[in-house]
Amino acid sequence: MQPFHALVIGASSTIAQAAINQFEEDSDCFGVYAISRSVQGKLKEGKTHWIECDNSEMRIREVCQHLKASSGTITKVLICNGILHNEDMMPEKKLEDINAMQLEATFYANTVVPMLWLSQLLPVLKGNEATQVALLSARIGSISDNKSGGWYSYRASKAALNMLIKTSSIEYARRGKNVKLIAFHPGTTDTPLSKPFQHSVPEGKLFTAEFVANQLLSIMETVTMDNEAAFLDWNNQAIDW
Ligand SMILES: NC(=O)c1ccc[n+]([C@@H]2O[C@H](COP(=O)([O-])OP(=O)(O)OC[C@H]3O[C@@H](n4cnc5c(N)ncnc54)[C@H](OP(=O)(O)O)[C@@H]3O)[C@@H](O)[C@H]2O)c1
Repeated sequence: MQPFHALVIGASSTIAQAAINQFEEDSDCFGVYAISRSVQGKLKEGKTHWIECDNSEMRIREVCQHLKASSGTITKVLICNGILHNEDMMPEKKLEDINAMQLEATFYANTVVPMLWLSQLLPVLKGNEATQVALLSARIGSISDNKSGGWYSYRASKAALNMLIKTSSIEYARRGKNVKLIAFHPGTTDTPLSKPFQHSVPEGKLFTAEFVANQLLSIMETVTMDNEAAFLDWNNQAIDW
């Protein structure tokens, strides 16, 4: 494999951290840019450079401007931002649970932030090298697969993310031909995000972040570079949009 730099956004996510650890071990990986809302003095760890970013449009633009110096060498990108619940909200079970605060907060973290990054990254990513961008989505964002309802904000925010990925792939095909966009479903993974719901996960179906990161990085290595967005699960199976 060609030596490369990795870019990991939402880098304090449990799945992101597991991927960063694997990049650290990979001798083909020259360096990792890890973007997080809080870097808590970590700045440089191994070959990982931490960059603080509040995900505002202005700051994303500044960070992408900085990353342009490594343009052509950043060929693996993970965008991991996402929320499902916090101290003020849990996924909605019924229509009466719907509220503007939850819809807005969930769409902001799950849809707006990843899309702001994707929109600003084009100059950093376009070039001659095959480049894969994985955006952490979820099977629950599949409109055709929605049989059980509920979880309105999260479900809709991931469906909207998927639409933005698909739409971006059409423009990237013209303006960043060597970039493959992947909406990735990690499966239920043992992280703070899934913690309150892990009791209902069937035996053997709760994955470690290490397993999921390993699956994702091997999928990125072998994925077909066809200028089309893919919606793939942890087992490299296509999910219907
Ligand atoms: N765990 C699962 O079972 C599962 C299943 C399906 C899909 N996913 C998806 O996988 C991705 C990673 O999740 P995870 O399980 O690793 O969760 P996690 O450990 O809770 O990490 C989520 C990350 O999202 C970023 N984030 C949180 N709130 C945010 C906000 N308000 N605005 C912008 N960014 C925010 C944070 O990154 P920084 O603090 O570093 O900026 C945080 O570390 C998410 O998109 C999630 O929806 C997870």
